[in-house]
Amino acid sequence: MRTIEWHNGMVKTIDQTKLPNETVSIKMRNCEDVAEAIRTMKIRGAPLLGAAAAFALALTAHNSKARINEQLVDELEEAAETIRRTRPTAVNLFWALDRILDKAKAYTGNTEDLAAFVVEEAKKIADEDAAANRLIGKFGAELVADGDVILTHCNAGALATVEYGTALGVVRAACEQGKRIRVIATETRPLLQGARLTTYELKRDSIPVTLITDNMIGYVMYKRMVDKVIVGADRIVRDAVINKIGTFTVAVLAKEHKIPFYVAAPTSTFDFKHTSAQVIIEERKPEEVTHMGSQRIAAEGVDVLNPAFDVTPLDYVNAIICENGILYKRDFVKFKAKHH
Ligand code: MRU
Repeated sequence: MRTIEWHNGMVKTIDQTKLPNETVSIKMRNCEDVAEAIRTMKIRGAPLLGAAAAFALALTAHNSKARINEQLVDELEEAAETIRRTRPTAVNLFWALDRILDKAKAYTGNTEDLAAFVVEEAKKIADEDAAANRLIGKFGAELVADGDVILTHCNAGALATVEYGTALGVVRAACEQGKRIRVIATETRPLLQGARLTTYELKRDSIPVTLITDNMIGYVMYKRMVDKVIVGADRIVRDAVINKIGTFTVAVLAKEHKIPFYVAAPTSTFDFKHTSAQVIIEERKPEEVTHMGSQRIAAEGVDVLNPAFDVTPLDYVNAIICENGILYKRDFVKFKAKHH
């Protein structure tokens, strides 16, 4: 089952803020519906944000009354701007918008065909993500041995992608090969994507998973309870991997304990135009830290920091697993040079 899909001129997904307690499916009818779902975290995870951004343009094209291509392109530009302002860090969102806008601008057919073309291009982006995840799983599973315990942070699973997942795609593929794998999932404060989403989707697939709080990572590594770390990414820049806040802490601890640290991500997450210092790290509202649900857990008026992502220098990364294969440091340097 896909996490997001085009269905009769609408886009269907599930509201991830309601999981794991309720499975509520939502239908989005226009660009603003998609923007709202992204802002409120009903849709999250870098590859899923890319597909959602593409579908926001597809809805705009589908609903458009434009009679000339320039007018439709203007409407797409405006919709893209709305989506760009939702969340700044995951590059997949910007990548998908630019890909569709570039192709729409170069389109030479009539306006009705252009609208249909935009819808098809968005579906293609979603299909490509699903296919990339399967390949990431296939390549990544080579790194996983029977009996491994894999620690993952946040949710880089089917829910963060169109289907299958990146880090959890590797776990799934290894399990499909008959390897007995266990996962340690960190809860991932403050929004608990690990506790709410990773445990939910692994339990659903009967993959053994143990939940820990974020401050237990050092202990489980010290006790030799972790064989490998596999995480996803929101943006892989020239010098670093940007992923959910806490990823850098996991990477430092993995290096200290000589545990391989792998990043699984499609090439739509690569951004070789930028270095880490140039990327906007999203700052989210203080209430996510001062409250648990509606319950205040911190003194009123306390100053709060709430960056949603952090930066892990490439030195801490043993390999990046993408749909083209496993990129060790030397391969990554070559790949960067070729695709810059
Ligand atoms: O804030 P979120 O939930 O959108 O953050 C998600 C992550 O950081 C994931 O690890 C990342 O997007 C990779 S998902 C395959």
